[in-house]
Amino acid sequence: MNPAQSTSELAAVVNAPAQIRHARLLRWVRDIAALTTPDRIVWCDGSAEECASLCDAMVAAGMLHRLDPLKRPNSFLARSDPSDVARVEDRTFICSEHEEDAGPTNNWVDPAQMRRTLRGLFDGCMRGRTMYVVPFSMGPLGSPIAQIGVEITDSPYVVVNMRMMTRMGARVHDVLGEDGPFVPCVHSVGVPLAPGERDVAWPCNPPNKYIVHFPDSREIWSFGSGYGGNALLGKKCLALRIASVMGRDEGWLAEHMLILGVTSPGGEKRYVAAAFPSACGKTNFAMLIPPAGLEGWRVTTIGDDIAWIKPAADGTFHAINPEAGYFGVAPGTSYDSNPNAMETLRANVIFTNVALTDDNDVWWEGKTKTPPSHLTDWRGNSWEPGCGRPAAHPNSRFTVSATQCPSLDPEWDNPAGVPISALVFGARRSDTVPLVTEARTWEEGVYKAATMGSETTAAAAGKVGEVRRDPFAMLPFCGYHMGDYFRHWLDMGRAVARPPRIFSVNWFRKDAQGRFVWPGFGQNMRVLKWIFERCTGEAEAAETSLGLVPEYAHLDWSGLDFEASRFSDIMGVDAGQWQRELNSHNALFDRLGDKRPDRLLRERDRLAGRISM
Ligand code: GTP
Ligand code: SPV
Ligand code: MN
Repeated sequence: MNPAQSTSELAAVVNAPAQIRHARLLRWVRDIAALTTPDRIVWCDGSAEECASLCDAMVAAGMLHRLDPLKRPNSFLARSDPSDVARVEDRTFICSEHEEDAGPTNNWVDPAQMRRTLRGLFDGCMRGRTMYVVPFSMGPLGSPIAQIGVEITDSPYVVVNMRMMTRMGARVHDVLGEDGPFVPCVHSVGVPLAPGERDVAWPCNPPNKYIVHFPDSREIWSFGSGYGGNALLGKKCLALRIASVMGRDEGWLAEHMLILGVTSPGGEKRYVAAAFPSACGKTNFAMLIPPAGLEGWRVTTIGDDIAWIKPAADGTFHAINPEAGYFGVAPGTSYDSNPNAMETLRANVIFTNVALTDDNDVWWEGKTKTPPSHLTDWRGNSWEPGCGRPAAHPNSRFTVSATQCPSLDPEWDNPAGVPISALVFGARRSDTVPLVTEARTWEEGVYKAATMGSETTAAAAGKVGEVRRDPFAMLPFCGYHMGDYFRHWLDMGRAVARPPRIFSVNWFRKDAQGRFVWPGFGQNMRVLKWIFERCTGEAEAAETSLGLVPEYAHLDWSGLDFEASRFSDIMGVDAGQWQRELNSHNALFDRLGDKRPDRLLRERDRLAGRISM
């Protein structure tokens, strides 16, 4: 490899458009091409024509299925390999120079050793394939808070998904200029093709998946998977794992949070950011439609998965959604549970691992009350109700542009972000955690978020339904030591004059019969209204061992028949359950060793004292 090549020589070698004069970018593409040996290099411009021709080619190759153009215009179904259906947390690595910077909740490998492993894996891995160069911006193009990434991938499915999930395309090069900074992201499905060898519908390399981050050099390498957060590298890898490290170093926060606007009947508007673990209701909450009885309220959507939160000159935190689309959970999405999502999905969607109807549309569990009498399931097999298998994979997803969402907030693209009045932390807990509590102080709120536990879901490979600690809903996404992250959060409370109030919620408590006690979905507006009115000073609260809570009379029950005894069921604090909960908090703090902040241990002692009273 010749480092002395001129920019135009380099551009010719890597087939780059003349517009591209960024020497470091060109050299990087040349070097990755030399390592991975693709048959050709394509620089993606993000145009509709490019997307259409990639989709046509994938349809012709059997990698995508075109849905009925009248029922679901310009929409496609992809079926993944059955071994490649979710994020792989045990194959995700944070390769910081020092092991103590990754911490006990991340998989750490020595970066030099990992680089050797990756060299071996990527050597020739794109043989027989096209290498796509995908420039993208997380955050509004050209905005000072945006981060640019360039993903090199051998998956055309990744290209068309990135086009909806990010601001992707040629305009990114105008922002990059000749030497602008970008996060290099290398992705391969890890399946080279011999000359003449036929490709499969979903190439991937099950035994050899590696989702690797080098936080010190801000690089991402992903091998062997084509699915979601493993492969769409702007999302979890850049906008959470790498960005969380940037936030630690620069004084801001990259979080697994939705952002919503809530407007009162009187026209007052507030913004709320809310963290829930994967598949625990962020998309639903972000697109909420108020129920009967609360019609005057309105919720608007800024984002459904990621928030970047920064101190602003007005003394508040401002948040932006770095993404431009939704990669949402399909099962459970219906005109009952989330009408805004259903409207968003009318056209221009890529569905992955949902079921196909006999009239060439899509279906998933919960889309309608009664399933169709026959379907083709996510694996391509004939399916009938009662056959004992799910028709759609539990982690089946839709990819769609945010601009199609009817509840999209007019400020969603504002580079200055929106001021945040409240932070909400929610988890999936059948017991223990009440419907809603408010922290009395920033430290108490950070404690609640840090010690959050949640039942695992199908969004990650592994067991479903086990309670694990998932601090800030960031366990799989924090790019550095969780103890340092807690300290950063504690410090950030002092970074602004008016920090947001912090709330904890749980929509998922169950009764003795195993049914959800709280009706959820649109009814969550009742809790959101109380949160809003706590911020404006209109709502009352009572003091308990877990913080401030609404009494039955403090919530607005207009239009809903929900008895006070049910409310007690869902707000109750069981001393035995909370003793077990505290033991589990302790186990988390023990894992963090010396880096657990004393300020949180003091909060724990205060809580323990109140619980035992
Ligand atoms: P990721 O995209 O994986 O980060 O997750 P997400 O939090 O955006 O997931 P999503 O909103 O799609 O969560 C979907 C799951 O949460 C489905 O199983 C829904 O049925 C369930 N869900 C959402 N809101 C509620 C609610 O208010 N009550 C109950 N019981 N379930 C809910
Ligand atoms: C999550 O698992 O939290 C997601 C989906 O948002 S993925 O992008 O696959 O990580
Ligand atoms: Mn997520």
